[in-house]
Amino acid sequence: MSIRRTTVLSALGGGQGAAEIRVMGWVRTRRDAKGFSFLEINDGSCLSNLQVVVDDTATGAGLVKDLGTGASVSVLGELVPSPGKGQRFELRATSLEILGPADPETYPLQKKRHSDEFLRTIAHLRPRTNKYGAMLRLRSALGQAVHRYFAVNGFAWVHTPIITGSDCEGAGEMFRVTALSDAEAALPAAARAEKDFFGKNAFLTVSGQLTAEPLALALGKVYTFGPTFRAEHSDTSRHAAEFWMVEPEMAFADLEDNMDLAESLLKDLVTGVLRECAEDFGLFAKFVDPGLPERLAAFVAEPFVRLPYAEAVRILLSAKKDFAYPVGPGLDLQSEHERYLTEEHFRRPVIVYDYPRAIKAFYMRQNDDNETVAAMDVLVPGIGEVVGGSAREERLDLLEARIRELALPLEAYWWYLETRRFGTVPHAGFGLGFERVLMLVTGIGNIRDVMPFARTWRHLEF
Ligand code: 4AD
Ligand code: MG
Repeated sequence: MSIRRTTVLSALGGGQGAAEIRVMGWVRTRRDAKGFSFLEINDGSCLSNLQVVVDDTATGAGLVKDLGTGASVSVLGELVPSPGKGQRFELRATSLEILGPADPETYPLQKKRHSDEFLRTIAHLRPRTNKYGAMLRLRSALGQAVHRYFAVNGFAWVHTPIITGSDCEGAGEMFRVTALSDAEAALPAAARAEKDFFGKNAFLTVSGQLTAEPLALALGKVYTFGPTFRAEHSDTSRHAAEFWMVEPEMAFADLEDNMDLAESLLKDLVTGVLRECAEDFGLFAKFVDPGLPERLAAFVAEPFVRLPYAEAVRILLSAKKDFAYPVGPGLDLQSEHERYLTEEHFRRPVIVYDYPRAIKAFYMRQNDDNETVAAMDVLVPGIGEVVGGSAREERLDLLEARIRELALPLEAYWWYLETRRFGTVPHAGFGLGFERVLMLVTGIGNIRDVMPFARTWRHLEF
């Protein structure tokens, strides 16, 4: 059997002019008429199905009566203009073969809408639905748009380690990596670390930032784009234990450059995906969130609000709204506060900056007021925080003092500190949650539904 095949995407565009083509895919529906049957075939190359007409004279026509939703087929036939509505071309089968049957009694995906909750339990099959197929093609396009944006803007793509010895965010939400046996793992902590693979404790990274910085301080503009891990026990619709983060880092840059980059990147990603994935995007606009096209058009057109943290607190304190968590100078913003600012007060993306230093990580650049650091979070309607970043503390004395103040192990950061000791420069960067951007462009409300196989608190199936 030749596996040379034409994709449904290519066939619907008229193919390559070949008289006879082979299409392979999964049956979505079958309709029988007198003397022939219609099959709707999908092969994942696009949202649309290809209509295949199998009449009694086709080789293998006798097999059609056994074809149910989900079965895989290979069809050889002639691509002809379709007399029917809804498609320009259809395939007149000359021969049909069943690659793999699917028992209609037990195949879980039937031609009806299934709940997201149910589909999560069959994450190995849900990519065959319209919605998840469209999401996965959009996810792919979005990832490529990330790389294109940085390539066009002169950033080098760097690969920072996934296994690390340091907790970048200092939040203690790291997964431990070990090669010890159960018996060895029972040793006292110090002996255990000594005995382990690296001779010290190892973890999965929560951010590539600390190792991206030295690279930016050599190459000027860099970015990482990779998997990131957090053992946060928060079972929310926006947190996953494993997710992808895009982290640009720029030398010779301050907080304003950082905000400019974040805004420009986000707008470029949204514009690019809308342009390239019109058909898939249409599904989300129709079935998931009818307000989506308008919201994204505004997202791209309007400047983001830039709001100092102190101003944000004033707005929240005077809001006529009962928040579950307290608001006040020095307190961190909770997601209900962030969403109020972006969804109700401004009704557009908001960049909150200059946060109290006490609630932020050690590496953030201290402002002259001694109270705040040059941090920023980008908040967007429907999701909340999509970006977190800052200018980095490039002054050795202030950085060392901060590490001491937080009782972090100064020795462990010797290499990080050397980048400040030798030729230090102002620099800045941020982390963009890739899944959260995908939620933004699709209107999908749960992070579990924008990843192929989500890893979340208490869930490690597949
Ligand atoms: O704000 P965060 O924690 O920032 C950092 O880790 C910095 N070191 C990044 C940097 O400056 N290079 O995380 C950045 C973004 C968040 O704004 C959010 O979009 C996403 O990463 N994020 C998560 N996404 C999904 N699941 C989680 N558990 C996430 N935690 C953070
Ligand atoms: Mg953050």
